Amino acid sequence: MTLTRRGLIQTAAASLTSLLPRSVFSQGAGNRKAVIHADQEIGIIRPELHSHFAEHLGSCVYGGIWVGKNSPVPNINGIRRAAVDHLKELGVPVLRWPGGCFADDYHWRDGIGPAVKRPKSVNTNWGGYTEDNGFGTHEFVEFCRLIGAEPYFAANVGSGSPQEMRDWMEYCNQPSGSSLAEERAANGSPEPFKVRYWGVGNELWGCGGNFTAQRTAEEYRHFATFARAFGGLRPYLVGCGPNGNNVQWTRGFMDTLAGYRMDGYSMHFYSNGNLPPLEYTPEAMYTQLNSFPRVEQAIVQQRNLLDGYDPNRRIGLFLDEWGVWDRMSADDEKRNGRLWQQESMRSAVAAGLGLNIFNRQADKLYMCNIAQMVNVLQAVLITDGPGGRNCVRTTSYYSFMLFKPHRAKTSVRTETDAASASPPNQLPDLSLSASRQGGDVVVTLVNPRHNADMQVDCEVRGVTPRQGRAEILHDPDINAYNSFDNPNRVIIRPHPVAVENGRFRVALPAMSVATVTLQIA
Ligand code: AHR
Repeated sequence: MTLTRRGLIQTAAASLTSLLPRSVFSQGAGNRKAVIHADQEIGIIRPELHSHFAEHLGSCVYGGIWVGKNSPVPNINGIRRAAVDHLKELGVPVLRWPGGCFADDYHWRDGIGPAVKRPKSVNTNWGGYTEDNGFGTHEFVEFCRLIGAEPYFAANVGSGSPQEMRDWMEYCNQPSGSSLAEERAANGSPEPFKVRYWGVGNELWGCGGNFTAQRTAEEYRHFATFARAFGGLRPYLVGCGPNGNNVQWTRGFMDTLAGYRMDGYSMHFYSNGNLPPLEYTPEAMYTQLNSFPRVEQAIVQQRNLLDGYDPNRRIGLFLDEWGVWDRMSADDEKRNGRLWQQESMRSAVAAGLGLNIFNRQADKLYMCNIAQMVNVLQAVLITDGPGGRNCVRTTSYYSFMLFKPHRAKTSVRTETDAASASPPNQLPDLSLSASRQGGDVVVTLVNPRHNADMQVDCEVRGVTPRQGRAEILHDPDINAYNSFDNPNRVIIRPHPVAVENGRFRVALPAMSVATVTLQIA
């Protein structure tokens, strides 16, 4: 095996120390070596890999994004103004809605027309609270426009019909000349919404219908048959893929699909944890973070399976739901809604591990949506209770910010001498990815250890870095978080980096995510 053999580092779980010539990597305690192969391209990092997901669940939509037009919380037509400001700054390429499990229980007609006339229903998936349908298609599209995101609808397969999905498409996308287009205009939007992305059901192996893979593919074919182009816009249809890396599901689904047209294929992969968000021990943290090498393996294996059916990669692989899912605190859920989860330095590191994987596997992925946008699971914003006035940017928000410079750049191959400790911590102690465009090389490094600072000495091959700057997100406490009283505890700060002789050196303290931007000669 040689250093340049493609794919070695792409499985983050593998430690390369034993595979590398000593002259390249001589290890010292707390020191790591890395190589950026700026001339070995992996693929474009689609901005869509930094997309989000918002469900009618807990206080994600109601009390999070949507406060209502008469709320004392500053808002734009009922949409929380602070959320709009923060999300605009972050940049949200695509936003998936309305679920999640909620999607296969949702009937879009309930959410259009005058708010006072909209029916009330019960959100049976998430706590049985009353869903007043105040936030429907028009409100969601307005929110997307305010934050600059492209909408992605998850259509109801489990309790819906092909006609219901087809009519939703016509309502959204037909410019004029049909009753549904006129209804949309009468409801305030003469211009079509131009919704391109459509999920055909959600988790049809579970809450979406408990179907088999074969039945899911048959349902897909049936629904897709009636998914027409309206206003010249052909819908991009996403079929329901597996829970985690379930290869039997993908084989069963793809065999039954039998080459029928499908644009995207969506898998879900959560990183479960067994303690409440702010009570993590290092052991519990490593148990959770150890899932990330499996996320990378799942992406590689699922893409590989798809390639067997789709060698030209016309089908895009989606990671429609991902992120840390901690043990919920009953008090938090009671106060703030189901699956309300505070984010800590641990969560920020988890986000960094995930986003580094997406960079390294950029050639295999089409879109990834962190679950979820506000208040629920690995949220980038939290508010204090339904309708709460405070809106805080979480640690995960800042991790996403550190990866923003990679968007639309070309991912390039990287190597490290990162080492895995003994179980239960199988995670390599340094996670790395890099991208290049024009005169810039961007490198993101994550130190996921709670007790080991390191110096990284990184050689850049293929180009010569002239100068650089770095930013870091770091707190030595794995449970550090941005509270309503101290919203700026964990934020991005400038960080020193030394650039000379075709390499850079940077200190990476325990529990940190850092981005180095190099200008090349
Ligand atoms: O994100 C929370 C839930 O997790 C979603 O509703 C479902 O799709 C998944 O199981």
